[in-house]
Amino acid sequence: MKNFITIDDLPNWEDTLASMQELKANPTAYSHIGQGKTIGLIFFNPSLRTRLSTQKAARLLGFEVMVMNFSNEAWAIEYEDGTSMEGIRSEHVREAAQVMSQYCDMIAIRAFASLTDKSADEAEIVLRKFAAFASIPVINMESATAHPLQALADALTLTELQLPKRPKVVLTWAPHPKALPHAVPNSFVRMMGQMDADFCIANPEGYDLNPEITAGVEIIHDQEAALAGADIVYAKNWCSYSDYGKIIRKDKAWMLTPEKMKRTQNAKFMHCLPIRRNVVVADGVLDHPNSMVIEQANNRTFSAMSILKLLSENG
Ligand code: CP
Repeated sequence: MKNFITIDDLPNWEDTLASMQELKANPTAYSHIGQGKTIGLIFFNPSLRTRLSTQKAARLLGFEVMVMNFSNEAWAIEYEDGTSMEGIRSEHVREAAQVMSQYCDMIAIRAFASLTDKSADEAEIVLRKFAAFASIPVINMESATAHPLQALADALTLTELQLPKRPKVVLTWAPHPKALPHAVPNSFVRMMGQMDADFCIANPEGYDLNPEITAGVEIIHDQEAALAGADIVYAKNWCSYSDYGKIIRKDKAWMLTPEKMKRTQNAKFMHCLPIRRNVVVADGVLDHPNSMVIEQANNRTFSAMSILKLLSENG
């Protein structure tokens, strides 16, 4: 594995799960791995969990960490080749990636979807261009279409729950006032493809995810029907994929409530955070003992550690 852009880059799913469990049980066991090495974390977008958990992961493995907010601290980056750079973009990714490769041993990047240009978002221009011109590994800290570190942390959380054989897992859309990207649900769907579970997606008409990602997954347009008998309910908002970037509805009919959770099999509740209370989900769900959201965030440290360790071991 040269880069970690999606969970499909992982050479072995079971080994990754085992690595996260080992690192969580003994977080300082590999503190020599990053000795004398530096990881650069660059953010084009805000973050709480990713920024702090990836720094913590790197430090537990012995790395030095450099963090830079590229949205307002770096020169604006040009990604097009052959362009005459007379606009606001002062630095080309070709130089930026090579220069960072001299200062760092790995680069981790957060660059969200534009939600205005579907083909550009799906080309993952920022991550792919940095990966093309850097001579060091590139790690995805949430890109236009994928959030694999979150999906790995969610897989660890699900594994730790020691659920009944073939649990029913429901990924349900929930309302939100802003248009949110598809990265988290996309990666959750890809991750569920590795798990032995009865998995379905519940979303309103017009909110089906990219059919290439959901191929083979049952999509139900009736939330209450989908929740029946669920062992896990993962709530997340995303904008329309077919009417790309648009919000079709903002009403609270799909907000997750304690009443709706009564339809489940005493389900655990999951969300990647941040979450808007009483918009996406009612307080009573988030504050219930079945809510796993804080442990999901805790597990972000071990998903990041497993990837940094794997990339280090690859030399
Ligand atoms: N879940 C997640 O990636 O959180 P942040 O956006 O705060 O990093």
